[in-house]
Amino acid sequence: MKILVAYYSQTGNTRKVAEAIFAGIRHTQKTLLPIDQVLDIDQYDLIFCGFPVQHHGVPARMVHFLQAIPQGKKLAIFATHGSLRGGEKAVTAFYSALSLSSGRTVLGTFGCRGQVKFEQLDEWMEKPHERAWAMEAQSANGHPDQSDLEDAQAFADLMLHSAEHIYSAGKKI
Ligand SMILES: Cc1cc2nc3c(=O)[nH]c(=O)nc-3n(C[C@H](O)[C@H](O)[C@H](O)COP(=O)(O)O)c2cc1C
Repeated sequence: MKILVAYYSQTGNTRKVAEAIFAGIRHTQKTLLPIDQVLDIDQYDLIFCGFPVQHHGVPARMVHFLQAIPQGKKLAIFATHGSLRGGEKAVTAFYSALSLSSGRTVLGTFGCRGQVKFEQLDEWMEKPHERAWAMEAQSANGHPDQSDLEDAQAFADLMLHSAEHIYSAGKKI
């Protein structure tokens, strides 16, 4: 089974989580790449896709990446966001990613907070449409932290178990 951890990251938060996921995969056939360097997606059996939540949704580059993944592939989706973990403002983006992944098998999702630069936050706070998440994001400083990265590793392990289960069941048929 070949595994790809593909990510898009503007300020480095999602890259850190991608690296933790990559480290958490106990498998030799694994590759870590930013999405713009992924060449032959078809060779991978399990693809982790990571992105930063932007404007309550999935950034356009990740939208295109998800749409290009062949039907039937196994996916694990992860994201970082300024708003609270598990909160409604972050969950909206996961729904969007799940709908973009229809026709693929999504094994699970993982999200954690990622800090936003204070100067940028001030800017978002001025915009009525962005204000709610920007208020929450004030307390995201220091994330992803060690505990987030450990959770990301545990997520990787869980996803690998599920994928191996499906993979070996498929081979028996
Ligand atoms: C343009 C932009 C829009 C953002 N929109 C949201 C948002 O709607 N909700 C949210 O929780 N965080 C939002 N954030 C915060 C990022 O999701 C968060 O800081 C993330 O960890 C950045 O990841 P990266 O360092 O991998 O780019 C936004 C950040 C930027 C720069």
